[in-house]
Amino acid sequence: MSDRSLTQTEVSLNPLSSERVNITIDGISLSVPKGENVIEAALNAGIDIPYFCYHPRLSKGDAANCRMCLVEVASTAPDGSVRKMPKPQTACTLPAAEGMIIDTNTEKINKDRKGVLEFLLINHPLDCPVCDRGGECPLQNNTLYYGASASRFTEEKRHYPKAYPLSAQVVLDRERCIQCARCTRFTDDISGDAQLGLLKRGSDVEVGTFAHTSFNSKFSGNVIELCPVGALTSRTYRFKSRPWDLMTQKSICSKCSNGCNIKLDYRMDEVLRVNARLNEDVNEEWTCDRGKFGHDYISSPDRLKSPLMRKDGKFVEVSWHQAYSLLADKLRAAGTNCGAIAGGRTTNESVYLLQKLFREILGSNNLDCRLDSNPLPASDPLFKKSLQTGMGNKIADLEKMKTIMVIGSDLQDEQPILFLRVRKAWRFKGAKVVYVSDHLTTDSTAVSDFASVNLIYQPGSEITVLKDLENALARVLSANTADSEPPAQLNTQPSEATGLSNNDIHLAASLLAKGEITIIAGKSVSQHSQYVELYQSLTNLLASTNSEGNLNIPVHECNSLGTMDMGMLPGSGPGFTKCAGGMGTAEMLQASADGNLQVLWVMGADPVQNFHNNELAVRGIENCPFLVVSELTLTETAKRADLVLPAVSIAEQEGTFTSCEGRVQKLFKAFEPVGSSKPDWLIVAELSAILGAKNLYFTFNDVLQSISKEVPGYEKINPGTIGDQGIFRTVPAAG
Ligand code: SF4
Ligand code: SF4
Ligand code: FES
Repeated sequence: MSDRSLTQTEVSLNPLSSERVNITIDGISLSVPKGENVIEAALNAGIDIPYFCYHPRLSKGDAANCRMCLVEVASTAPDGSVRKMPKPQTACTLPAAEGMIIDTNTEKINKDRKGVLEFLLINHPLDCPVCDRGGECPLQNNTLYYGASASRFTEEKRHYPKAYPLSAQVVLDRERCIQCARCTRFTDDISGDAQLGLLKRGSDVEVGTFAHTSFNSKFSGNVIELCPVGALTSRTYRFKSRPWDLMTQKSICSKCSNGCNIKLDYRMDEVLRVNARLNEDVNEEWTCDRGKFGHDYISSPDRLKSPLMRKDGKFVEVSWHQAYSLLADKLRAAGTNCGAIAGGRTTNESVYLLQKLFREILGSNNLDCRLDSNPLPASDPLFKKSLQTGMGNKIADLEKMKTIMVIGSDLQDEQPILFLRVRKAWRFKGAKVVYVSDHLTTDSTAVSDFASVNLIYQPGSEITVLKDLENALARVLSANTADSEPPAQLNTQPSEATGLSNNDIHLAASLLAKGEITIIAGKSVSQHSQYVELYQSLTNLLASTNSEGNLNIPVHECNSLGTMDMGMLPGSGPGFTKCAGGMGTAEMLQASADGNLQVLWVMGADPVQNFHNNELAVRGIENCPFLVVSELTLTETAKRADLVLPAVSIAEQEGTFTSCEGRVQKLFKAFEPVGSSKPDWLIVAELSAILGAKNLYFTFNDVLQSISKEVPGYEKINPGTIGDQGIFRTVPAAG
């Protein structure tokens, strides 16, 4: 990667021809795909061409804005003579053609670059000492490398009020902008909200939102990383640090199940900013705003620093020895009359050891990780086959699909990275999208914006909608009318039950009938009381289009899938193995409310806030004879505990998460735990040792190796194989 460029990847938005052409760059002969941009051919060959506006993931339509990538080009005529183009060309928009001869480093090009930089700097302020980009700024670096030592412009520069607030997160310094249009193309091409544009014309041109509305994109943080200068900066990071003061650690986002790869930039054990980390198969180089700006909890002043024990109604700080002694006594006294609820934010290692402690040492099978309403018991084969399995497609494969149906999901909120893939499939790969929901969102970013058909039905009629769709699909397939208008005899009046006309249904069925399809179903499906009927209809749609296996019902928290894989379910052991049944979340809370569950351990979950039946959660938590909570802060559940154990965040531990697509990815430790807090797995391992466990675990690697040996589906996952970008676990046969 060029140290003068923010990003360099090998992705090209336009599928390249399989035909190859021979070109020469700086005397090096290359065979490259016909039509590949010269800048990409050069960068792939390790030849550096400076650039600002080019970006491999953004469309080229508005590019060639900065002129920094100029090269000299000649072509070889059939008679062998070489003809030079009279003017330099922009390498980012020049397609490679047979016989092209390109020079990137001539005296003329270096003079041109000097001139281009002089123009780009006409209005650019001398802000480097106070600019967040300083030290990692392509404009600064290219100016030092290619620019002139002085400018001939003596005119007054443009002046604007500083730090124009584009939104609560993004700040704009307009005079720093070099009008590269990366940010505006991002909102057109990737997030789709099209909120940023180049306003005004000529020398007055500036970036902004139309009518000065707030830039409220759900993916707004990405433009901070894309901006090649310090024009777009983060309100939370602004003036906090310089890049050379920061340490960086690889990590995995903890804010949803998509498993975005991120980098934590930290100083003095405080996370100052989060940037995306490249993983082509997951988030490419994007994050949503929840991931980008939502990790401030790691360095929150509210973090718990030592165990807290309730004495006379108040919490007092105690040592780990005192905390473990009390908890061990309570658990010994409770016998099997105890249970545990673990949240989908805990690591595989923590949950694996927790269920081991309860099943193998305490003899209790009262274990669960689900706080949402569940249409099926965990022991139901259909639960294992669908809800416990995750996605039928890999995230990266979604963009290859030609027809995508999204049902019952505000995908941009529930699964932001899946949303970006679906939009990419539509925007750049020609996919057609069918959106089925009981409401239209008012968000500027939504599947309904680009769906070919929106089936917005009356709430409660989803079963009828899917049955109608099944019937229409069967009719279209048998009549082979996928491309035709709906038959004239179809009633196009909206049905009273669904609010949809047969015409709408026919249009959707016609799209689904065109070939292989994939379906992404959201919470409205997975938590529906008639889930079984909905599931059956969805699998029927897939079967009639030869798309079996393409059903995606993604889970929601960063380790919801791993937590279930590790056996944190009543009647389902590690790797879907069958084991003795026990109480689930609702039963444990009920038993606790009735005073019939002696000890309840809540790890990384907040039932008082998040259990679907709040009244039961409060009764269960408040009446529990002994409640122990391991957490980062005093949550509503922790506030009601008898014992609180301080746990650590993603920045302070090694561990693994299993994303919604089944990719097991590693957390790397950035800095030491706050106060005397400990990773959950270590807390459980130490307590297990006190309670007489035969197998002792001292490191994260010990636990992962044990998972690798004992959890079906995780055999190939061990410290040596997991790498930086994770590997897939396999799904064992249900039951
Ligand atoms: Fe300096 Fe770059 Fe900031 Fe401009 S954007 S002031 S060149 S550091
Ligand atoms: Fe380019 Fe940054 Fe200006 Fe947007 S704000 S046009 S990304 S320089
Ligand atoms: Fe080619 Fe900007 S990178 S014109």
